[in-house]
Amino acid sequence: MQVAPIRHGNNKNIGESIPMNLENTLLMIPGPVPVAPRILRAMSKPMIGHRSKEFGDLYNECRSTLQELFGTKNDMYIISGSGSCAMEAAVGNIIGEKDTLVTIENGKFGERFREIGERYGSVRSVKFDWTKGESIDLEKVESALAEGARAVSLVHNDTSVGIKNPAQEIGELAKKYGALFIMDGVTTIGGDEVHVDKWGVDLAVVGSQKCIGAPPGLSAISVSKKAWDAMVEKPPYYMDLKAYRKSAAKETAQTPYTPALPLFFALNEALRIVKEEGLEERIKRHSKFAEALRAAADAMNIEMFPKLNKYSKYSNTVTAMYIPTGIDDKKLRGGIKELGIQVSGGQGSLEGKIFRIGSMGNLSKLDILGTVQAVEIVLHRHDVVKKMGPGVEAAASVLK
Ligand SMILES: Cc1ncc(COP(=O)(O)O)c(C=O)c1O
Repeated sequence: MQVAPIRHGNNKNIGESIPMNLENTLLMIPGPVPVAPRILRAMSKPMIGHRSKEFGDLYNECRSTLQELFGTKNDMYIISGSGSCAMEAAVGNIIGEKDTLVTIENGKFGERFREIGERYGSVRSVKFDWTKGESIDLEKVESALAEGARAVSLVHNDTSVGIKNPAQEIGELAKKYGALFIMDGVTTIGGDEVHVDKWGVDLAVVGSQKCIGAPPGLSAISVSKKAWDAMVEKPPYYMDLKAYRKSAAKETAQTPYTPALPLFFALNEALRIVKEEGLEERIKRHSKFAEALRAAADAMNIEMFPKLNKYSKYSNTVTAMYIPTGIDDKKLRGGIKELGIQVSGGQGSLEGKIFRIGSMGNLSKLDILGTVQAVEIVLHRHDVVKKMGPGVEAAASVLK
C-alpha cells in the first residue's frame, strides 16, 4: 500500500512544497517528540471509566513517577491540557487582582508568564533581550523582588533560545524575599536535573510531549504547602487546584473533570519507559545528545545562539544555533526536511536568524547522528562547509 504524501509545514511553511511521508519523518523539533510504538499502542486501548479503580491506579502510578522526575514530595496533579494550561494553573491559583508576579523573561516562554500574569493581577517584568540570546542577570531579578511580590516565575529551560536558566539561585532569591516560586520545567523535567524540593519551587509544571516522550495534550503540576496556603479565592474554574486536590484524595483517585484517557494511557506507558531507562541514565543521555550537537556545530563552524553568563548554561534538550552565512532558513531547513528530518526555526523576530534542534525524549544516537549528517549534507550542497564529515565525526566521538 502506498502512503499518500502529506504536506506539512512548521514555522511559516518551510519546506511546504516538499512532499513528506509523515510516517517516516524524524521529528527533531523541541516537542512534540517522536512517540515510541509502545506508547502509541497504549493509546488504542478501550476506554475505561474515569472514576474507576483502574483509572485511579493509573493516575496514582503516573503521579508518583512524576514526583520522582520533579524531585519532589509535593502534591502532584495531571491536567488535560498542554504545558501552557499548567502554567496558567500555577499563576491563576496564586495571583489575584491585588498581587504582583515578577516575571523573568529571556525567551518566548518567559514572556508567556507575563501574558498570563496580566490576566490575573499585576506583573513586574525583568526583561533580557532574548532576540540577542541574553542570559539572566541575578542582580536585576533581586532588585525586582526587593520591591515585594507574591511570586516570581522562571522558565528553567527557555526552548525559544536554548538557554538553561539558574533555577536554584532564583529559588534562593524567592526565599530571601518571601515570594512563591513558579517554575516552568516543561523542557527539563524528565530529561535534565530538576530538584523542586531542594530549589524551593512552590509550583512546577511539565508538558507531556517533551522529555517524557508522550504525545502532547497533558501537563502536570506540583504544589507545595506554601502554595496551598496562598491560594486565591477565585482561581480559574477548569484549573482550580483545590478541585484537583479534592478529587485526587477520594478513595479512588480521580481528576475533577473527564480526563483525556488515551493520553493518560500513553503517559503511563511513557513514564514506565522512563523508569526502565532510569532517570539518571536518561538525564545523562539527554546531556550527551546536546553535547554531541554542540560539538558538531563547532566542527561545522556554526555559531551557538545563546550568550552565556556565569548564571546560565546551554540547554541540554534543545540546541539553538545561528543560521550560517551562505544559506538561508528556507534552504537549510527545507533541505534537511527533504532528507526526512524536521528541525525548528526561530520564533518571533528570530525567524530566519536561528535554527533549533530538539533532542528530547526517546531518541537514539543514530537520530542525533542522522540529524547532524543531514545538516552537514545541506551545508555542503550550498558550499557553506567545504568538507563532509567533521560534524558527524565530532558528534560520534561524543557519543561513542
Ligand atoms: C519551555 C516551554 N514552556 C511552555 C511551553 C508551552 O507548552 P505547550 O505548547 O504544551 O502549551 C513550551 C512549548 O514549547 C515550552 O517549550
